Amino acid sequence: MTTLDTPFPPAALTVLDVIRSRRTVDISLLKPDAVPREVVEAILEAGTWAPNHGRTEPWRFTVFTGEGRAQLAEVFAQAYAAGSAPDREDGAALEAQRARAWRAPLWISLELHMPEKPKMPEWEEQAAVACAAQNMWLAATAFGLAGKWVSGPVMVSPVAAELLGAPKLLGLLFLGYPAGELPSSTRAPLSEKVTWVE
Ligand SMILES: Cc1cc2nc3c(=O)[nH]c(=O)nc-3n(C[C@H](O)[C@H](O)[C@H](O)COP(=O)(O)O)c2cc1C
Repeated sequence: MTTLDTPFPPAALTVLDVIRSRRTVDISLLKPDAVPREVVEAILEAGTWAPNHGRTEPWRFTVFTGEGRAQLAEVFAQAYAAGSAPDREDGAALEAQRARAWRAPLWISLELHMPEKPKMPEWEEQAAVACAAQNMWLAATAFGLAGKWVSGPVMVSPVAAELLGAPKLLGLLFLGYPAGELPSSTRAPLSEKVTWVE
């Protein structure tokens, strides 16, 4: 829990607490338990409330859960096979890619769909998708879930994007219920990052 000595309103304390308790976890820390559909929908809804310049809402999400993860397993395997890893044609390496999809109960792709006639530069649209990702991650944290935004070569591969029907893939967010204690994390003190002009 965040302990603050200031008389902040309860809603602020709750938000600050969720922000502080969101943690990146290894996939091995997740229980296999499915995330209820209504929880997933609430998380996605939180994503769509992200700020976006010009109301372009440039995000699209593909949700992989349950048996649907078989499709994601193929996406991972094909993206890996198309990459430059030395063992990309190795059967065991491809199986490991497929197996990864089953290790988290819920995967949400973070897709960028630029408007047909872009009004804003691409970086702004990417930033909007990142805001959506953070909204979803925070909402998931509030539901007791943990996970990771994964953005390695397979996760942002143009091949994976094409298989998902996405012009650009900014990675995936995997989520699940943690089996144990969340790892701790640190941040540099504000004094190293903030300049006050008063
Ligand atoms: C855009 C983005 C991409 C990330 N990609 C990865 C990744 O591919 N692999 C990984 O282990 N963590 C990834 N992370 C998570 C960071 O490593 C993590 O946020 C950082 O270690 C701090 O941990 P915390 O989130 O628990 O505070 C990513 C985070 C962001 C914002």
